Amino acid sequence: MITVGIIGSGNVAIHLVKAFLKADTVTITGVYARNCSALRGLVEANLVFTDANDLPRADVYLIAVSDDAIDEVSALLPPNARVVAHTSGSRPINSINVNHNRGCFYPLQTFSKSDVVDFSEVPVCIEAEHPGDLEILGQLAHTISRSVSIVNLEQRRALHLAAVFVCNFTNYLYGVGFEICDKAKLSPELLKPLINKTAGKIKNMTPYEAQTGPALRNDRTTIEAHLQMLQGSSREIYQLLTQSIQHERHKL
Ligand SMILES: NC(=O)c1ccc[n+]([C@@H]2O[C@H](COP(=O)([O-])OP(=O)(O)OC[C@H]3O[C@@H](n4cnc5c(N)ncnc54)[C@H](OP(=O)(O)O)[C@@H]3O)[C@@H](O)[C@H]2O)c1
Repeated sequence: MITVGIIGSGNVAIHLVKAFLKADTVTITGVYARNCSALRGLVEANLVFTDANDLPRADVYLIAVSDDAIDEVSALLPPNARVVAHTSGSRPINSINVNHNRGCFYPLQTFSKSDVVDFSEVPVCIEAEHPGDLEILGQLAHTISRSVSIVNLEQRRALHLAAVFVCNFTNYLYGVGFEICDKAKLSPELLKPLINKTAGKIKNMTPYEAQTGPALRNDRTTIEAHLQMLQGSSREIYQLLTQSIQHERHKL
C-alpha cells in the first residue's frame, strides 16, 4: 500500500483525490488546503487539514497548487514524506523547498473541477531529484494511470508548450468559432460534430495529413471573404494561421 498526501483543492488536486480514492493500492493520509470547501463531501472531514503542520506522514506529498505558490507552500510542509512532488508542467523541481526530496508528478491533461476525467488515460510524467525516488513516484502513478513516463525538465517544458498549442489555443479558437455562430444567430451545437471529428482524425492520421481548408487549397477569394468578415485579434489570428499553413505547404 502506498500512502499519499495531497496539497491543494483546485482542479488538479480534486481530480487526484478522486482518482486515488478509487485506487485499491493507495491510501490518502491527508489533504492540506487553505480553502477546504471544494473538498466537502469528497474526503472525510478528519482527513482535511488547514494547517500544513498537521498533515500526516505519507510516502509522497503531491503539491497541486498554482505554479507561483509551490515554493511558499512546500516550505510549510513538515518533513513527513519520502518525496514531495509538484504537478506543474513548467516549473523545475527545485522550486520545491530544499528541505524535501523533490520530484514532479505532471499529469498531461486539461483538468476542470466540474469535468469528468478518466485518470487511467492521463499520461503522468515523473521526475525525481534522487533517482531512487522515481520508483515510488512511478508506483504511485501506475495506481491511477496506464501511461507513466520519466521526463526531464527540458522535455516536460516542451510537452507543456505543445499542450498550450493543442489544448489551450485550440480551446480559445473554439470560443472564436462559437462567437461567430452566435452573431449569425446559429447554434454553436452545429460545430460540435466537426470539433469531435477534427480531434478524432489524428488518431489515425498526422495533423499534416488531416489538414483541409481554404489556406491549404490556397482559395484566395474565400480567404479574402473571410477576412472581410473579421475584425481585431480574430482577423490577425486568421491571417497568421493562414500564412503559417501556406508557408508549411506551399512555401509561400
Ligand atoms: N488545470 C490543469 O489543466 C493542469 C494540468 C496539469 C498540471 N497543472 C498544474 O497543477 C497545479 C495546480 O493547477 P490547478 O489548475 O489545479 O490550479 P487551480 O485550480 O487554480 O488551484 C490552485 C490551488 O492552489 C491553491 N493556492 C494558490 N496559492 C496558494 C498559497 N499561497 N497557499 C496555499 N494554497 C494556494 C489554491 O487555493 P485557493 O482555492 O484557496 O486559492 C488552489 O487550491 C499547477 O502547478 C498547474 O500548472 C494544471
